[in-house]
Amino acid sequence: MFDNFPLWPDRASTIAGNVDALFIFLIIVSGMMSLLVFSCIIYFAARYRARKGVLAEHIEGSTPLELTWSIIPMFVFAAIFLWGAVVYFQERTPPRDATEVYVVAKQWMWKLEHAEGQREINELHVPVGRDVKLIMTSQDVIHSFFIPAFRLKQDVLPGRYTTLWFRATRPGTYHLFCAEYCGTQHSGMVGSIVVQEPAQYEAWMNTNQNGPLSGTGQQVYAQLGCASCHRSDAPSRGPTLAGVFGSSVRLEDGRTVTADENYIRESILDPGAKIVNGYKPIMPTFQGLVSEEQLNALVAYVKSLSPAKPGEAPAKTASVTEQSNTPAQGSQVE
Ligand code: CUA
Repeated sequence: MFDNFPLWPDRASTIAGNVDALFIFLIIVSGMMSLLVFSCIIYFAARYRARKGVLAEHIEGSTPLELTWSIIPMFVFAAIFLWGAVVYFQERTPPRDATEVYVVAKQWMWKLEHAEGQREINELHVPVGRDVKLIMTSQDVIHSFFIPAFRLKQDVLPGRYTTLWFRATRPGTYHLFCAEYCGTQHSGMVGSIVVQEPAQYEAWMNTNQNGPLSGTGQQVYAQLGCASCHRSDAPSRGPTLAGVFGSSVRLEDGRTVTADENYIRESILDPGAKIVNGYKPIMPTFQGLVSEEQLNALVAYVKSLSPAKPGEAPAKTASVTEQSNTPAQGSQVE
């Protein structure tokens, strides 16, 4: 319908329809309210205009009227809030078995690395109909990852991870923009999302020359000598990393935190920030010693030490990545 009159960008993700429906609802409500207000202005201006010999009436407030125009909008706004919250939580909650892609933004390009090891610049290949989770960070300033066709936008910040997820619904090539002014060539920081049929995607994946990202992480882990402290045989100087990812960790100060990507990242760059209960703050910082790419690889490696528990196992359509999703078998922390 909008082919020759593109009011909307392509709709190519599962969330796009929900976002559009909410947006259209907001436009209709706003339009109706504007119409109502302007109709009243015109009507009252005519009805109560100054006329010779007619004295203006003094009108007191009306409680029923005021209640009506307070309570009805309250329900309308509450509905908008609830609807918005539902869509927001859908958009913000990545499914556990999503394929993972690490994104590093820099002035002025997007560097992407699939968990399987495939690397790309300013281009992201994804399969149609599969959940994809992006784990994003910046190595300089704030950028913003924006895919209009997926109705997704998320700031990409230096010093921490932010995430996005989507499931593409239609093969094709879609715009990727940077949506945060990030310097002189911000407007050129563009790319494309290439959505492929699973077979095509598999063929593309098979051109992969690098091993899985977690394998790279394992090498970095070895180079940095992490294993000399993070041993599985107690007593060791550092907590074992097997099974840590996704678990609840009790800290020295009594807090309990969930070991997610940001926790792993922080523990590498700022080890003193969250000391695991029962351990001493002796780990040195690796700030400046590892690149963003190496950090991502380390995070992927630590993740690979926590296999998905039964019941939440990566299931169904995951055939494409099956071999490569279980990389670090037998690579226990020594
Ligand atoms: Cu990166 Cu704008």
